[in-house]
Amino acid sequence: MEQAEISTETSSTVITCWAAIAWTANAPLSIEKVEVDPPKPGEVRIKIISSGLCGTDKHILDGKNKVPLPAILGHEGAGIVESIGEGVTSVKPGDKVLTFPIPECKECQFCLHPKGNMCLKEKVLSPTGLMLDGTSRFTCRGRKIYNLFGTSTFTEYTVVHEIAVGKIDAAAPMDKVCIMSCAVPTGFGAVFNTARVTPGSTCVVFGLGGVGLAVVMGCKASGASRIIGVDINEKKFPPARALGVTDCLNPRNLKKPVQEVVKEMTGGGVDFAFEVIGNTDTVVAALESCHMSYGVCVMVGESPSNSRLSFDPILLLPERSLKGSIMGEYKTRSCIPKLVTDYIQKKFNTDPLITHQLPFQKINEAFELLHGGYCIRCVLLF
Ligand SMILES: NC(=O)c1ccc[n+]([C@@H]2O[C@H](COP(=O)([O-])OP(=O)(O)OC[C@H]3O[C@@H](n4cnc5c(N)ncnc54)[C@H](O)[C@@H]3O)[C@@H](O)[C@H]2O)c1
Ligand SMILES: [Zn+2]
Ligand SMILES: [Zn+2]
Repeated sequence: MEQAEISTETSSTVITCWAAIAWTANAPLSIEKVEVDPPKPGEVRIKIISSGLCGTDKHILDGKNKVPLPAILGHEGAGIVESIGEGVTSVKPGDKVLTFPIPECKECQFCLHPKGNMCLKEKVLSPTGLMLDGTSRFTCRGRKIYNLFGTSTFTEYTVVHEIAVGKIDAAAPMDKVCIMSCAVPTGFGAVFNTARVTPGSTCVVFGLGGVGLAVVMGCKASGASRIIGVDINEKKFPPARALGVTDCLNPRNLKKPVQEVVKEMTGGGVDFAFEVIGNTDTVVAALESCHMSYGVCVMVGESPSNSRLSFDPILLLPERSLKGSIMGEYKTRSCIPKLVTDYIQKKFNTDPLITHQLPFQKINEAFELLHGGYCIRCVLLF
């Protein structure tokens, strides 16, 4: 594959490079030449070095979660700043960065509030596929191509708002840290910030993919005494056990509903349950797995667009609670670069979450690995 065409004065020029286009759902991605516009004021153009494939990208390709198409998907990216638009001060060309699906403008009333991580400028809940000024930076065969959550990492170059870019340590291994832009903070934060798992507690994790196993690592680090892992794919059990799962359950092999089994195993229900699949039935099963009075269920998975949760409200009455958690409740730019530093300092090791690495051109093969449940995280290298 040829190199991207860039002149020396890159900040003001269009870059032509390769990107994977999702023209429609339920079809392979198409690797094509795209034009990437220069960054406008407040924007950063990034040369992507690595990108993970997240369950959310998979849901979009499957048509379960709706975003504007055609688009360049991918939101779990690590790269190097190529050029900056006017007024950008927090990063400069050459800096190593992560892209975040949730921005942190540090100015709006949500960002200034000590709790929560939703910024008023976020584009995840109702994705427009466009930059904040309502335009796109990508063109392919003369057609406008949408972005994903303001990030788009399945491309050699992307343009992201400065408020969604986090500068990371110059020592960061770029083939490994892309998962710090979604899977790792989402899983760790669901445990540390949303559930606040306590030492000696019992936990159940529904869904042992990249994010679910990051939840498992967080539960183990919090001193949970028992971590029950639930998945319909038993290939996930050995890596889950290696990371701290004490008991594995495949709901398809049980004679009773999995929540009944979890309640029996734990004398009435777990202290903390996590749904990390993205399915309304398993959200209810996770909720029902919790202890009726002090059980906390955290919903991390993204259920299909326009789906509805349905359960008997009596479940919540005795003080059981149901919470959501997005990007682990971390204020992205303020907190996640520190996680990268902790990783570099070997305070934790998330490398086991990366089971495969493939060249970017093999992105469809990487999605087949994810669909077939053969990988935990497959990271694309550019
Ligand atoms: N809240 C957030 O900020 C956030 C961030 C990233 C991902 N997500 C969501 O988290 C979920 C998991 O993402 P991931 O990257 O780990 O995906 P993944 O595909 O790697 O893992 C999903 C796991 O769920 C299992 N599974 C599927 N259906 C099941 C069922 N009915 N019962 C039991 N197990 C089942 C699969 O076998 C797989 O192991 C997705 O819904 C994704 O959209 C949310
Ligand atoms: Zn993600
Ligand atoms: Zn904000």
